[in-house]
Amino acid sequence: MLKNFLIVATLSGAVMASAQPAAAHFDTQSKVFRLDGGGTTYAFGVNARGELQQIYWGGHLAETDAIPWAVPMRAWASFDSSHTTTPEEYAGWGAGLFVEPALKITFADGNRDLVLHYESHTTIANGVDVVLKDIERKIYVTLHYTIDLQTGILARSATIENREAAPVTVEQAAAAAWALPPAHYTLNYLTGRWAGEWNLTEEPLRPGVRVIESRRGSTSHQANPWFAIQSGESSEEHGEVWFGALAWSGSWRITVEQDQLDAVRVTGGFNPFDFGYVLHPRERLETPVFYAGYSPDGLGGASRLLHSFELHNVLPRTAATASASTPKPRPVIYNSWEATEFNVDEAGQIALAEKAAALGVDRFVMDDGWFGQRKNDHAGLGDWYVNSQKFPHGLKPLIDRVHALGMDFGLWVEPEMVNPDSDLYRKHPDWALNFPGRPRSEERNQLVLNLARDDVRDYVLGFLDKLLNENDIAFLKWDYNRNWSEPGWDQLPAAEQKKVYVQFTRNLYSILAELRRKHPNVEIESCSGGGGRVDLGILRYTDEVWPSDNTDPFDRLTIQDGFTYAYTPQVMMAWVTDSPHWMNKRTTSLSYRMLSSMQGSLGIGANINHWTPEEMALAKRLIAAYHEVQPTIVQGELYRLISPRNGSEFSATQTVRADKGQSVVFAFIHSTQEGRGFPILKLKGLDSATQYAFTSIEGKAKPGTPAVASGAWWMNHGLEMDDAFRGDFQAVAFRLDRK
Ligand code: DGJ
Repeated sequence: MLKNFLIVATLSGAVMASAQPAAAHFDTQSKVFRLDGGGTTYAFGVNARGELQQIYWGGHLAETDAIPWAVPMRAWASFDSSHTTTPEEYAGWGAGLFVEPALKITFADGNRDLVLHYESHTTIANGVDVVLKDIERKIYVTLHYTIDLQTGILARSATIENREAAPVTVEQAAAAAWALPPAHYTLNYLTGRWAGEWNLTEEPLRPGVRVIESRRGSTSHQANPWFAIQSGESSEEHGEVWFGALAWSGSWRITVEQDQLDAVRVTGGFNPFDFGYVLHPRERLETPVFYAGYSPDGLGGASRLLHSFELHNVLPRTAATASASTPKPRPVIYNSWEATEFNVDEAGQIALAEKAAALGVDRFVMDDGWFGQRKNDHAGLGDWYVNSQKFPHGLKPLIDRVHALGMDFGLWVEPEMVNPDSDLYRKHPDWALNFPGRPRSEERNQLVLNLARDDVRDYVLGFLDKLLNENDIAFLKWDYNRNWSEPGWDQLPAAEQKKVYVQFTRNLYSILAELRRKHPNVEIESCSGGGGRVDLGILRYTDEVWPSDNTDPFDRLTIQDGFTYAYTPQVMMAWVTDSPHWMNKRTTSLSYRMLSSMQGSLGIGANINHWTPEEMALAKRLIAAYHEVQPTIVQGELYRLISPRNGSEFSATQTVRADKGQSVVFAFIHSTQEGRGFPILKLKGLDSATQYAFTSIEGKAKPGTPAVASGAWWMNHGLEMDDAFRGDFQAVAFRLDRK
């Protein structure tokens, strides 16, 4: 047993209670805090100077293990004092700190020195709150820690409070800093652009700072707030990985820094670029939450932990599924965008809905074009009344028909935007983000409403609430099609206007939370011209996301591969669209397109008015096959067997249901060369002793494949693909079911 340890938090779940020790301990003698969860131990303590210092983060240590001060405070000559080499949990910028600070403050008298020391702590469920205070001034920082007992994923954030008599300006505020000892590491992060999101970018960590960030006011397509650091020997399925994800949908920054002595620090939170948050006496600033975890099983193990954590702890539940441990798999949707773009009307949408219902679709979603004077992207945003030329009787006849066809109804909105050509802008030009007297840069002919303002927040909440009260709408596709420019907020004094970076996102979250409270069965998708606003902040309030406007089924394989490093396939919407594809003119079979989209949460976004009876029949059969195994695909354990990255000719994924009773495999060929066929597929995660029956999903014969074989056979011998599985843009899928 742990001697001298005060057990400050115990298990709440009966299932876990027998298997796990208590989650949080504080050793009063050594002043070491220890958090245990899943296969992970995290430890930090109060060092001789009174600072909070990280000690250990990695595989679970025995309860009997005392945690020594393994990381001494070291200095390196007179140029790197121990202030800069000590891995502080949350360092103020002061004393001799040259590495990234967690907190930087300017006081009213011009003092900018901040040195945070341990003050006190309070235990909370599965964690601890630790209070730090400046050595002289009344700046208090409460660090919040919790650990998930299942996955060992830690949640950290900070509350900064000014108890001085005068205001202070917070110029930089991280949610947390994570530290790793000197070693060889590889950094992984996700980069991209519109229609090309989710590129896994890998590079060896070198001395200096790698900055991953968004300065755009929202999460961004260009970089996503996720990282994974592999130890030197780590690969997709083996070796140590430390990973994290920042839960913030505004401008953010994560710095990954290898210091002078090769130690690594990852610091993340509000982006300090153009940041300045004035804290008046007694005011507080809450940072976002920075989640992080540890896996001994490579990048694959890291993403499986994150997926499970997201499913169990982050994603919202509707009232109908409030008590379920995970959200229900997403309905298969039909979306009108690529079929009709802005040319929506009652008759046209009903015609599409009838076709969609015949396919077995669960939800019909009408996209852009139904409101205001919206004929194209030049007008209408902000005017959220139903366009009476397109829908002379309102939305009711369409919604009633969709219901009669056995589907529920979803609608597109873009609440935070305004076209200058709109009644809203003519009435409230001051509502757009702007610096008075300066030009207002338009993108897609639209401006960003300043959601930080109370009146704008009330307007947006009001029209959405009215829309949901007046129409039987099950789902909102919430779009956001540009980034910020000229982020002025002239209602506030000049020194306080940068508060917009925090308040905008807080109001976005509060609107989403309030809508969900008032309409507890409505579901919401976060879309931002594709994957521009996907993060663990927005995923607390939204049920799914749109990963990319690029729906090309081959491009999607890489997009979906990258997406799953950070986010669960449950939220990854994937539509089947038309061929040749509008973006890169690639021609692919319907079967290939369907199987590509079936890797995630399936949707149909094609112009199904043009589909042949044979195509309708194929899609109907595959939607039915998908419905049967969807929980395994979107909530099972994901193994990326063969990556489509780096020009690979082949790719394959496998998901295994939690009870190991079912598994689903997708395999894709880009183009075979020189007669070389698909590699033998050795499956993972099955139960060796269980017998599994093989069933093809797309229906192609696979000569030589056993009808039934043990888990050991599928994992060790593996599956040889049929020799005919060759050519360009080919796909197969199959399921294994416990006999
Ligand atoms: C961007 C989205 O990503 C698309 O799916 C579509 O909804 C358009 N906006 C509509 O303007």
